[in-house]
Amino acid sequence: MLYVKNLHKSYKTGNKCYPVLKGIDLSVAQREFVAVMGPSGSGKSTLLNCISCYIPFEEGTITLGGQELKGMNEDALAKVRNEKLGFVFQDFMLLDGLTVRENILVPRIIHGAVDSKAESLADELLTLFGINHVANKYPAEISGGERQRTAVARSLINQPLLILADEPTGNLDSKSSRAVIDSFENARQHLDATIFMVTHDSFAASFCDRVILLKDGAVYDTLEKVENRSDFQDRLLTKIKEMSGDIE
Ligand SMILES: Nc1ncnc2c1ncn2[C@@H]1O[C@H](COP(=O)(O)OP(=O)(O)OP(=O)(O)O)[C@@H](O)[C@H]1O
Ligand SMILES: [Mg+2]
Repeated sequence: MLYVKNLHKSYKTGNKCYPVLKGIDLSVAQREFVAVMGPSGSGKSTLLNCISCYIPFEEGTITLGGQELKGMNEDALAKVRNEKLGFVFQDFMLLDGLTVRENILVPRIIHGAVDSKAESLADELLTLFGINHVANKYPAEISGGERQRTAVARSLINQPLLILADEPTGNLDSKSSRAVIDSFENARQHLDATIFMVTHDSFAASFCDRVILLKDGAVYDTLEKVENRSDFQDRLLTKIKEMSGDIE
């Protein structure tokens, strides 16, 4: 579904060039829930932004649903962003002047028009994520967890191939984080969603099928969940310590 091959990306500052991604290879299958973890500055957001078609990269290929992103013009990339990808950010990015239900429908408005199919999907998402009771409230009137579940619902309204989430639980307490993770899990079960999530939170990551560890712009290791959630979290934490050099 998503294939990243030999991805290289560097940032140029003045006449200096800083390599950030140094040959990333990874893939995500349909209906997979995958996390990316790694120290600050390891290139997680850069990787996500390359997949999101927000920033150009020098070398390698990214293929999404059989379509290669490199070489596409801005219009085609915008179309991919709107039709094939859904986004969830750490700071929710909801529009303050719109209700929860209207916010969920925003990508549909950008896509064209809100038809009855979109309206009924919005209602289905409101119910699925337990935010029906706040459907007509404004973002300022609801909790952080409800805001993020609204953002997850919005990311799904165009039924994208892939949801990209950058620290979706970064601003939430553990109970709200759990509700957001549950909403991803629900989206996978009921809507066949595929989720690629950057996170610092080993608890959130332990719900995933697979965790990719990034270090200094390269894949350090990939851990597949074969045990229960809490044992997987322990294994993740051990591996992260090893990666940071605490354990030899
Ligand atoms: N627009 C930019 N111009 C120059 N350097 C950048 C730019 N964006 C990021 N960097 C640098 O690239 C490196 C990787 O940044 P990135 O944001 O991908 O890290 P990250 O793994 O997401 O970190 P965090 O966990 O703190 O969010 C960092 O050293 C950062 O300073
Ligand atoms: Mg980041």
